[in-house]
Amino acid sequence: MTTTDGLSTITIRSFLTPGDERTLADDVLDGLTRPFKELPPKHFYDTRGAQLFDAICELPEYYPTRTERSILVSRAAEIAQATRASEVVELGSGTAEKTRILLAALAAAGTLRRYIPVDVTESMVVRVADELTGLFDDLEVHGIVGDFERHLEHVPAPTDGPRVVAFLGGTIGNFTPGARRRFLRGIARLLRPGIDHLLLGTDLVKDPAVLEAAYNDRQGLTADFNRNVLRVLNRELHADFDPDAFEHVAFFDREHEWIEMRLRATSRQRVTIPGASDLVVDFAAREELRTEISAKFTHERLTADLDAAGLTLERTMTDDAGLFALSLSTRPLNLKVPSVE
Ligand code: AVJ
Repeated sequence: MTTTDGLSTITIRSFLTPGDERTLADDVLDGLTRPFKELPPKHFYDTRGAQLFDAICELPEYYPTRTERSILVSRAAEIAQATRASEVVELGSGTAEKTRILLAALAAAGTLRRYIPVDVTESMVVRVADELTGLFDDLEVHGIVGDFERHLEHVPAPTDGPRVVAFLGGTIGNFTPGARRRFLRGIARLLRPGIDHLLLGTDLVKDPAVLEAAYNDRQGLTADFNRNVLRVLNRELHADFDPDAFEHVAFFDREHEWIEMRLRATSRQRVTIPGASDLVVDFAAREELRTEISAKFTHERLTADLDAAGLTLERTMTDDAGLFALSLSTRPLNLKVPSVE
């Protein structure tokens, strides 16, 4: 779909296909038949899950969103200066609430031409395209409706000027270490050596009490968000989970340096999942299902992961308390993106 309004052009292309419900069923068949049950966190985000996550971002205990925003506010001009970007590709763009700060700085520097949001929720991509073309004169928006884990190849080729690929919010922490490096290599392929940058948001290792409070908020929104994945399975796959029979568990795993979220069955449960080949899943009393990991970073870990993807860290920007980091990295000239693990 392409529309032109004044000098702004909106193009939106969807790569989601009807068979995409299969990925949920496949993840269920794969994850709930293991000795240690597990589901990937991407299935949290139906309409209700996305709303709960937005509410979590406003919680006093949940510092990442507001901290990343404050870093962007104080460093956006510097990022604009360092990148001279004419286009921003954003993975998991959502409402693009924080991205607007960066786009405004690029517009002020006179370099901004195009914004390429990538998100699974079509209505979000449409809304963001409308809002941003309204906010920035002559901005071209090329929206990609798709899964950033599967559809990066559909990101259009860069145009003349430098590009920034932005992956904000600390979502990189949802990947397990191997998958994280593989994903970073996929991002590296979107960058031209010596020209383009990755702008990455990472939550940092800190006092476990601060970390654990952020995932165990007093209002119970995170608990609700966690249990929401069971409602998604009930609706999409006609499963019969009783969400109230599972309690929210979140703790900092000091060895892996990640927050781990789980759902713990409060009593023995048997669940049937018609939409996943009629799978029958038994939970023992107190058995736990892992629903998310959220990795926290040190400078060393960040450098090592970027390095493994053929990326060089150029600058790290943190808040005064050192809670969160935004980093800029590049693909050096004469270095290939490593293809082996
Ligand atoms: C969206 C993946 C960055 O890991 O902090 C918030 C999701 N989970 N509270 C995070 C989340 C529980 C969030 N990310």
